Amino acid sequence: MLVADAVARTLSELATPVLGLATGRSPLAAYRDLIRRRQSGELSFAHARIFLLDEYVGLPPDHPQTYRSFIRRELTDHIDLPDGSLHVPAGNADSLNDACDEFELAMRAAGGVDLQVLGIGRNGHIGFNEPGSGFTSRTRPTTLTDVTRQDNSHFFGGDIRSVPRQALTQGIATIMEARCLILIATGTRKAAAISAAVEGQVTTEVPASVIQTHPHATAILDQDAAAELKNPGRGGRWIRARRTTPS
Ligand code: F6R
Repeated sequence: MLVADAVARTLSELATPVLGLATGRSPLAAYRDLIRRRQSGELSFAHARIFLLDEYVGLPPDHPQTYRSFIRRELTDHIDLPDGSLHVPAGNADSLNDACDEFELAMRAAGGVDLQVLGIGRNGHIGFNEPGSGFTSRTRPTTLTDVTRQDNSHFFGGDIRSVPRQALTQGIATIMEARCLILIATGTRKAAAISAAVEGQVTTEVPASVIQTHPHATAILDQDAAAELKNPGRGGRWIRARRTTPS
């Protein structure tokens, strides 16, 4: 509800809204809510652009776990987003660096991201910016950690060997240029990462901690993900969605 409300506001207030979206489990309830609101005519994506955070390298284009397939299945096939308005880094390009540059150019040409939805890895990653990623990093190829591959093996029949080792990801600096950030986390397995990201030191070892320096960042958490926070309401910026899964 809170996430879908923020997306709905962005869609209704801006003439050409640009959304940055995450894949993975965390935003699924929000995407289901957005589909429902679209189907009841409450909102429209007709003038929107969507930029994904990341994409695996080397999966065949028709593989169900490419992030392009994922977002189509979970959101964009069910809304009125025009063809060509979904931008995903091309994980199959001959030159991955050129693909990353093209993605950044397209984002700039669209005027930058108005609202960026983020998940968080157990190791504190955002996008696929694994611990140690520089805060000045831009969209680039990156190597996934074993923790990330293990967690994402859920989508590959539980087999870590099927999870690609490389991905393209928006950089930290790219993400931080979005005008508004919303980070979603649920479940006790995210509690330590959330505590480090929200209340710990701002450090490249916890990439998500960079959001503490963003002027319009909100973490939307269920009670389990917020369980290790000392001060969940600090400054009114960190919202706890009680009992329900954030959507
Ligand atoms: C996905 C992404 C990742 C995920 C994170 C959490 O596009 O960029 O940072 O948001 O790995 O994944 P889930 O939500 O599956 O726990």
